[in-house]
Amino acid sequence: MDFFVDTANMDDIREIARWGILKGCTTNPTLLSRETGDYNKILQGICELVGGPVSAEVLSDDAEGMVSEAGELASLHDNIVIKVPMTAEGLRAASELAKRNIKTNVTLVFSANQALLAAAAGATYVSPFVGRLDDIGHDSEAVLSDIVEIFSVNEISTKVIAASIRSPMHVTQAALLGCDVATIPPAVFRKMLKHPLTDIGIDLFKKDWEKAGKQMVDAK
Ligand code: E4P
Repeated sequence: MDFFVDTANMDDIREIARWGILKGCTTNPTLLSRETGDYNKILQGICELVGGPVSAEVLSDDAEGMVSEAGELASLHDNIVIKVPMTAEGLRAASELAKRNIKTNVTLVFSANQALLAAAAGATYVSPFVGRLDDIGHDSEAVLSDIVEIFSVNEISTKVIAASIRSPMHVTQAALLGCDVATIPPAVFRKMLKHPLTDIGIDLFKKDWEKAGKQMVDAK
């Protein structure tokens, strides 16, 4: 499973990218609205930093408007993937963009049938929102599991991005179910990294080494 970062904040992206595990990024209007500066420049900067697919979302309600916005966004950088909403117009736009070889991410997916429709429209990615399903008491694991299995048995090439990730457990769940990608907020990445026993173990190794009178390796 690939890791994408779910943010538009350059400092956070820079930090996670330095770990050497990042394959892409997803943004949305809410995430971009939290940043200051020229949004197009921010998206270009993210593309340079990440070196992989970066989702940028359209805001039009109709397919024509979405396709026109998509053209502008796609011209910013080769790595831009166009996020369209899971609506009839969004499907029309995804289908048209597929014909133009522009990659799409159909977002705000909450059911297996929506994911099937997005795939049929030629979406490159579908993004089921697990956290928002959990928020309203639905079984996000069942929805994600159905989508992954349906895509597998039907040999559908559209990739599944587990989105709206709220905790490290969501990431484990997505990986166990065989999602292609998990798009993860920076705060959740930091939680995934940490374990108290790792810190305790590092301290202990250093103390034992020093107790034995050994010198630390000179890094110079
Ligand atoms: C996905 O592409 C979305 O940007 C994101 O995961 C939404 O997450 P939220 O439900 O925490 O806003």
